[in-house]
Amino acid sequence: MAAFNIVDHEYDVVVVGAGGAGLRATFGMVQQGFKTACITKVFPTRSHTVAAQGGVAASLGNIGEDNWAWHMYDTVKGSDWLGDQDAIEYMCREAVPAIRELEHSGVPFSRTPEGKIYQRPFGGHMRNFGEAPVQRACAAADRTGHAILHTLYQQSLKYKAEFFIEYFSIDLMMDPDGSCRGVVAIDMATGTIHRFKAHRTVIATGGYGRAYFSCTSAHTCTGDGNAMAARAGLPLQDMEFVQFHPTGVYGAGVLITEGSRGEGGYLTNSAGERFMERYAPTAKDLASRDVVSRSMTMEIREGRGVGPEKDHIFLHLEHLGPEVLHQRLPGITESAKVFAGVDATKAPIPVLPTVHYNMGGIPTNYMGEVVTKKDGNPDSVVPGLMAIGEAACVSVHGANRLGANSLLDLVVFGRAAALRCRDTLKKGEPHRPLSKDASDMALARLERLRNANGSMSVAQIRKNMQRTMQNDAAVFRTSKTLKEGIGKLSEIAASLKDIKVSDRSLIFNTDLIEALELENLMTCALATIHGAEARQESRGAHAHEDFPNRDDENWMKHTIAYVDDKYKVKLDYRPVHTYTLTDEVKYIAPKARVY
Ligand code: FUM
Repeated sequence: MAAFNIVDHEYDVVVVGAGGAGLRATFGMVQQGFKTACITKVFPTRSHTVAAQGGVAASLGNIGEDNWAWHMYDTVKGSDWLGDQDAIEYMCREAVPAIRELEHSGVPFSRTPEGKIYQRPFGGHMRNFGEAPVQRACAAADRTGHAILHTLYQQSLKYKAEFFIEYFSIDLMMDPDGSCRGVVAIDMATGTIHRFKAHRTVIATGGYGRAYFSCTSAHTCTGDGNAMAARAGLPLQDMEFVQFHPTGVYGAGVLITEGSRGEGGYLTNSAGERFMERYAPTAKDLASRDVVSRSMTMEIREGRGVGPEKDHIFLHLEHLGPEVLHQRLPGITESAKVFAGVDATKAPIPVLPTVHYNMGGIPTNYMGEVVTKKDGNPDSVVPGLMAIGEAACVSVHGANRLGANSLLDLVVFGRAAALRCRDTLKKGEPHRPLSKDASDMALARLERLRNANGSMSVAQIRKNMQRTMQNDAAVFRTSKTLKEGIGKLSEIAASLKDIKVSDRSLIFNTDLIEALELENLMTCALATIHGAEARQESRGAHAHEDFPNRDDENWMKHTIAYVDDKYKVKLDYRPVHTYTLTDEVKYIAPKARVY
């Protein structure tokens, strides 16, 4: 192997990723006094959380009565009973203090006339166990993620977190006993390799929306942490559950927040009909996302789509008036103009369901510790390794996430990871030496890819993968499309052997970084489509046309997928947690899910 220029570091905690979850964890860790490094491949405030628009859910009850037990009920129902109820209880209960902390840290939330945090309705959030929509999403206009991200970065700097910016994490360092000892990263500007030893490594690398052709996710959402875990022999959980957001701008995929329907926007078909009234008589346009996305797709399939190709739907905001749009929804008004050429104060916005969120990820408990099925125990903790945010599967979202529960997941579980370290880790504990081969896997991977001199470009293979996922693992799936998709994707994965990286340099080699990202995406895509093909039921975002009903008897269980370094996938299952943490709430038994 070529000689690399290697720099070694020692920290109490290393956080990989500087989105909402990574920064909330980093802030929490340094606040507790842990020597903490945050490694991020983009400048922190460019992380994808910056694009989150509509709000963060918490039952503050600022505009009408609310209760965390109602929030818990909605989240369990939204998850189509695949969520772990202990974790859901924790998230909904802790939402209230977590948002108060954000407020006190300086997040510039929009305000009610009395000065309280402004809250708007969001899909699937209801009062009194499903009765009628409630205003639960705490909003900073339609730039809530931006507001939170900037505040958390400023707080992390205030407490002297150390940032390693534009460092790309390649692989975890694992001990032979299965514990995680840190991570290997490359400084993209200089090509120097850095080995970060840590007592706790926290993966907060976000989702893998870019496995699909059309998504609301940034180019950087490539499942890096998920794939690092898989290469370390750890499972990925519930990857078949991919959320399509109902309102991506037609043709561009850019997000138009659900908050726009929360403010009174509605969808129509080619007959000008508000069709959601037929599919979800109570919640209508504010039903949960899987329901709205499927309804839109059905309208289009049945010939009631709008536009010359009848292949999309209209979102109306014109009736809200320029004042509401300017005050509450300025960002999406701008996006409609830039990406659809539409003045939203005068005309409807053309929209289409677009890949938005991954419910699956690295399995963890509600304290952020990574778990794996070992010696018959499905909740066995991997020493030294934590995962939070979209990279993790706690599982609070189960088969379908409710809008505004994503920002909530980031801040609650980022905070939980720091609280867990407070309770289990001593500051400044000395480090054992690493095993001799601790960084070999990462360095071999880097060496292999920088020398890759095949005939296919990174972009070509990526596009083949994205098209296959878009066509064969879509809003509606069938056994035929999924089987064909597995065949095609296996061939595309095999074509990685023939990849060409255009430059051998380690210094600012974006083609090399994109090749590393492509391998990560491929791992996630394969786990997704294999999990989907195996799951013979419909639940939440997994709408299987050959098995249209939910099957609790056989399928109320989490999929766990192992993807090896040859891209072979092995599936197993682990039970859903059907218990609560306290006796303040009871287990919510499965029932039909109607809105
Ligand atoms: O529609 C939105 O503003 C997205 C929010 C979310 O995914 O939670």
